[in-house]
Amino acid sequence: MKQWWQDKVIYQIYPKSFKDSNGDGIGDIPGIISQLDYLADLGIGGIWLSPVYASPQVDNGYDISDYEGINPDYGTMADMKQLIAEAEKRDIKIIMDLVVNHTSDQHAWFIDASQSKDSEYRDFYIWRDGAEGEFPNALQSTFSGPAWQFDPKTNQYFLHLFAKEQPDLNWENEKLRSAIYKMMNFWIDLGIGGFRMDVIDLIGKQPDKEITANGPMLHSYIKEMNQATFGGKNFLTVGETWGATPKIAEEYSNPNGGELSMVFQFEHVTVDEVPGETKWNTHPIDFGALKSIFAKWQTDLYQKGWNSLFWNNHDLPRAVSHFGNDKEYRERSAKMLAIVLHGQQGTPYIYQGEEIGLTNTPVTSIDEVNDIEARNMYNTEIAAGKKPSDLISAINQKSRDNARRPLPWNAEKNGGFTTGNPWLPLNPSYQKLNFEEALANPNSIFYTYKKLVELRKENPILVDGKFQLVDTNDSIFAYTRTLGGKTWLVVANWTANEEQLSLPEFKLEKIVIHNIENKQLDLKALALQPYEAFIAEVITKAGTK
Ligand code: GLC
Ligand code: CA
Repeated sequence: MKQWWQDKVIYQIYPKSFKDSNGDGIGDIPGIISQLDYLADLGIGGIWLSPVYASPQVDNGYDISDYEGINPDYGTMADMKQLIAEAEKRDIKIIMDLVVNHTSDQHAWFIDASQSKDSEYRDFYIWRDGAEGEFPNALQSTFSGPAWQFDPKTNQYFLHLFAKEQPDLNWENEKLRSAIYKMMNFWIDLGIGGFRMDVIDLIGKQPDKEITANGPMLHSYIKEMNQATFGGKNFLTVGETWGATPKIAEEYSNPNGGELSMVFQFEHVTVDEVPGETKWNTHPIDFGALKSIFAKWQTDLYQKGWNSLFWNNHDLPRAVSHFGNDKEYRERSAKMLAIVLHGQQGTPYIYQGEEIGLTNTPVTSIDEVNDIEARNMYNTEIAAGKKPSDLISAINQKSRDNARRPLPWNAEKNGGFTTGNPWLPLNPSYQKLNFEEALANPNSIFYTYKKLVELRKENPILVDGKFQLVDTNDSIFAYTRTLGGKTWLVVANWTANEEQLSLPEFKLEKIVIHNIENKQLDLKALALQPYEAFIAEVITKAGTK
């Protein structure tokens, strides 16, 4: 079956920061509806909506207290239905964030489960014996500290791989699994177009063996879920899979596997991390390594599975600050990153504001930090004797607040995001760097994205073309895509240096997209400017176009 998403680009919305409609400083669903024409103009085919469900907001909505209710700060179920309908009118599908590794501790199931060991919901969560202060084992939370929380009422520990307000669900319990599938069908019946599955690779965990990701039952649960809910429908499912290898990705996403449409894996975006250490310990990006990672995924999954293409999301730094140059070459490097990513095989995701080249927002003190992950890390490390300035510098590079600042729609106060006080301050650059300005400038980053989105819809070579790496030095990433005798060549200089490149094996047919206006290309002697990138249709020496 042809799936709606195959030639589309997905746009991720972080609702709290997208657009506020009522002046309370918090983005909301009516705010999203008010900008659907903007998204339709960009050309995207689907919106991955970060959680809008009822939630105490300990982890900004990834702690859900009612899967079938909407957080009143964001609107009502009527607003949600209107969003689905208004998006549909513009040929845009809504992809809901499915957070089923854990709930909020305020979810009715957990409230009941924590009342007594006899609660009918007790086994929906993961409880273990242990005296206070003696943890059942050494499992650690992603948000720092032990993954076990003692509950004095029933004298047992419960597991939380994230915040202690996010108790993990027990997928071994069949009733829990049925309840989740029922909830998923509720959303499918409302007419959504897909699910993005939050940390789905953790649901097969075996806590007693300290196995969290890729547990033995993981794929059976996903197959069962597929059968019970979205299987056989024209529907997008994307699994957030931090620990996937191409082999594991194939298992999730091969079209006959009865599991998911695609994976969302992080090998390329964690290239600056030290293996075995936390995300806060980084080293400069090795672009040779980055290139090898991309090439491996492009090659190993070809005709076997399906990958997502992304540079950033709500958990990662801003793309241009992380991988490009957010100073003098902000525009050109942001366009380069877009071209070199969208030229590949997979489903591209644009994170809100990436399409106008928004940058990280440095802070000077922990008081300015909202992100629970960063705050917990800071407190733990300070207690261990680390220097505040080192921790703030790590936070400026990696904190999730960077991507979570409210969006600058125009140059007015608070970027037109809200008429009130924004829940988190905007990046102070908003007077110059905003959507209104980007739309008014025909050479802006926005129009590069718009063109790339359109190219994918019109050129099957971008969807199905076979990838081949072109041999160059590590400052350059070059590859071809080939389909039915046609070849597209993608070349990107991902440094601030000028680079020379000679590709006599290709003859230029036409330039498809280029981030330097009106520059001639001589493939025999390319003098690449800093961050220059293009896609060109070429004829290869063998004579095929
Ligand atoms: C995922 C989400 C992240 C959240 C975590 C726990 O990684 O993307 O934002 O904090 O899961 O739900
Ligand atoms: Ca609001």
